[in-house]
Amino acid sequence: MPRAIEAGPRPTVGSAQRPEEGAGDWPRACAVVVPSPRHQVDFPLAMSASNSTDTFRIHRATPETAVAEALADVLMDCVEGGASVGFMHPLPRARALAFWQQVLASAARAERIVLVAEDVESSTIVGTVQVVLAMPDNQPHRADVAKMLVHRRARRRGLGAALVQAAETAAHDAGKTLLVLDTVTGSDAERMYARLGWERCGVIPGYALWPHGGLCSTTVFYRVLAS
Ligand SMILES: CC(C)(COP(=O)(O)OP(=O)(O)OC[C@H]1O[C@@H](n2cnc3c(N)ncnc32)[C@H](O)[C@@H]1OP(=O)(O)O)[C@@H](O)C(=O)NCCC(=O)NCCS
Repeated sequence: MPRAIEAGPRPTVGSAQRPEEGAGDWPRACAVVVPSPRHQVDFPLAMSASNSTDTFRIHRATPETAVAEALADVLMDCVEGGASVGFMHPLPRARALAFWQQVLASAARAERIVLVAEDVESSTIVGTVQVVLAMPDNQPHRADVAKMLVHRRARRRGLGAALVQAAETAAHDAGKTLLVLDTVTGSDAERMYARLGWERCGVIPGYALWPHGGLCSTTVFYRVLAS
């Protein structure tokens, strides 16, 4: 597990808010400012220092329509860019929005944790990841990591890695000790999880379709979290 930075008290789920046009009243109070790392998070998280001026804030999503709209933008961008993440291209906006509304409702029922990464400068959500907590009775210690998405304009700045680490921390804090995910074989994401120390289990050939058609394989990963 990443070592926690002494970054202040942990806010409650859903209390991290952001100012955004049309997003209603988003109090800023619980955005913990992490002293020097390039990302700010609303819970302690180890981040590699960087001399980049990029600043992102990772926090738990709240169930506002504006959040679902912003997440729909990220999902549509990823699908348009060729990511195999459960949807075919072209992805209608209404379908993307309905998906996120269901996901946020599920988070409100504490079945999952939805993390979002906000570009502080533009107050725009540019990335997300989920920790699926609801598991069968005989797997209370396990969670799935799902829907890791970073908008193309925010990639290759360490945000994906920061989201993975934030997901691991959130899962650990929820009492989970085993994480599982799968991702397209040979993708940027596969490289990222391997780089971050996830264990590769193997490949399932022809697992899913690319958004523009044609089969892709998936690689299954797991990670044991210190209890
Ligand atoms: C996979 C994904 C989430 C990665 O997001 P990201 O924010 O680009 O991830 P990172 O920035 O942490 O790492 C990506 C690369 O940038 C590099 N990088 C990180 N910080 C950097 C920096 N400051 N300067 C230059 N390069 C940097 C990393 O080393 C990595 O390099 P590599 O691809 O050669 O291994 C993103 O590509 C994505 O959303 N893909 C589409 C959706 C998808 O496939 N999701 C996975 C579903 S499980």
